[in-house]
Amino acid sequence: MIRNILCIGAGYVGGPTMAIIAKHCPDVRVVVADINAERVAAWQSGVAPIYEPGLEDVLRMSLGRNLHFTADVEGAIPDAEMVFVSVNTPTKTFGQGAGRAADLQHWEKTARSILQHARGDTIVVEKSTLPVRTAEAMERIFKSRDGGARFQVLSNPEFLAEGTAIEDLEHPDRVLIGGAETPDGQAAIQELVDLYARWVPRDRILTTNVWSAELSKLAANAFLAQRVSSINAISALCEQTGADVQEVGRAIGTDHRIGPHFLRASVGFGGSCFEKDILNLVYLCECYGLEEVGRYWEAVVTMNQYQKRRFVQRMIRAMFNTLADKRITVFGFAFKADTGDTRQSPAIQVCRELLGERAFVCVTDPQALDGARRDLADAGPRVSFTPDPYEAARGAHAIALLTDWREYRDLDYQRIYARMERPAFFFDGRNLLDPEKLHGIGFNVYPIGLPERSLL
Ligand code: UDX
Ligand code: UDX
Repeated sequence: MIRNILCIGAGYVGGPTMAIIAKHCPDVRVVVADINAERVAAWQSGVAPIYEPGLEDVLRMSLGRNLHFTADVEGAIPDAEMVFVSVNTPTKTFGQGAGRAADLQHWEKTARSILQHARGDTIVVEKSTLPVRTAEAMERIFKSRDGGARFQVLSNPEFLAEGTAIEDLEHPDRVLIGGAETPDGQAAIQELVDLYARWVPRDRILTTNVWSAELSKLAANAFLAQRVSSINAISALCEQTGADVQEVGRAIGTDHRIGPHFLRASVGFGGSCFEKDILNLVYLCECYGLEEVGRYWEAVVTMNQYQKRRFVQRMIRAMFNTLADKRITVFGFAFKADTGDTRQSPAIQVCRELLGERAFVCVTDPQALDGARRDLADAGPRVSFTPDPYEAARGAHAIALLTDWREYRDLDYQRIYARMERPAFFFDGRNLLDPEKLHGIGFNVYPIGLPERSLL
């Protein structure tokens, strides 16, 4: 029975996951280590450095009892019987595979550090999404020195989505654990199964070989992103033909073989995972000589870029082919609602293109303004930020809604309209609002995948 767990990487994945493990396993000591001392200090104080509904309540249940945070990564390794690795694996920006392959430098450094400091037999659990066969490379590193300690590498990819992380961790559709098909590998799998079984029904804990687990994570994200790109492709056709993408989505989704989820047309998908994981999959295909397979998946990303570009093109066309010196208000900068995360948010590209057209851009968001300021730090004086949507709309020629925050549904649009320039435009990149209502107020409305409702 495992009593001491360490997680390296206290980010969006490591922090919430360990808080839930600590909650359900009060007899297990859970230490979360991160090289970023500022992040560690925030976690330690009980105020999470990330916005995630319900997280802080769970955090405070165990903090200081059996859940601890530290910036001393190396010092935390010797006592750990099981080490989760959840450091970031961004897309490589240099050398071979730049722009596609995963940058594994943090991972490898972490593995070497575990090898150097582990005292006894240790189970190493991949939580970060990694290219298939990374576990094998890790095992070779662990075997490269005979220090007495033996290592087993498991793949246990995390499927939580931001904004619903706590619910996803409490009631996962499945937990996936991959390990070696040897007696030691199976014993390591069993240790991790026993841990999750404290709160996850056994029939939801799937065990596989390591490669299947690694590939399943990439494939799951690719399938999810593919659904968004598929409905977005249809949305372009809807705008041309007069079909309504929401009606089409409903009609498709009631087929039980297809199902209703992930069929919401949008300005495009964002987030730290979808694009990165698909490009990683594409690179993997290319490495194995599977050009056609790689191209097939790459099209999901290409469609997403097209959708973001198309959104801005529609704005330009609607607003008499010029945005120069017009004031555009952006409602929402986070890549989805209920998170402060802006990584790969479609808002980044949309704002940059609007600024490229020499518009003035005013960004508002209830949680993601710090991220927005960072992402647009080089954009100059034409961009401004305010948490108040009414303030943001003052003097605007158009509103572009880019994040599906619930609070945007409940705003007083009559009041907003009253403080805007005429004609007033509304581009709903999430189909969050009732176009008829907005049109009734006086807006020229452009939802995704629906014909425009124009007064002109
Ligand atoms: C990360 C990966 O990006 C993703 O591919 C994987 O699926 C899960 O882990 P996330 O938790 O969202 O996702 O990343 P991030 O919030 O950036 O957290 C990573 C943390 O690791 C950061 O706090 C960083 O400081 C820390 N880190 C990074 C280390 O402690 N050591 C390192 O060497 C590198
Ligand atoms: C995703 C996966 O869902 C999760 O299982 C994995 O662990 C990490 O990557 P996340 O990126 O947090 O999670 O959010 P998700 O809810 O999947 O949304 C991703 C993007 O797709 C968002 O920008 C969202 O707005 C967009 N989206 C989603 C749509 O545009 N339409 C949809 O119907 C669904």
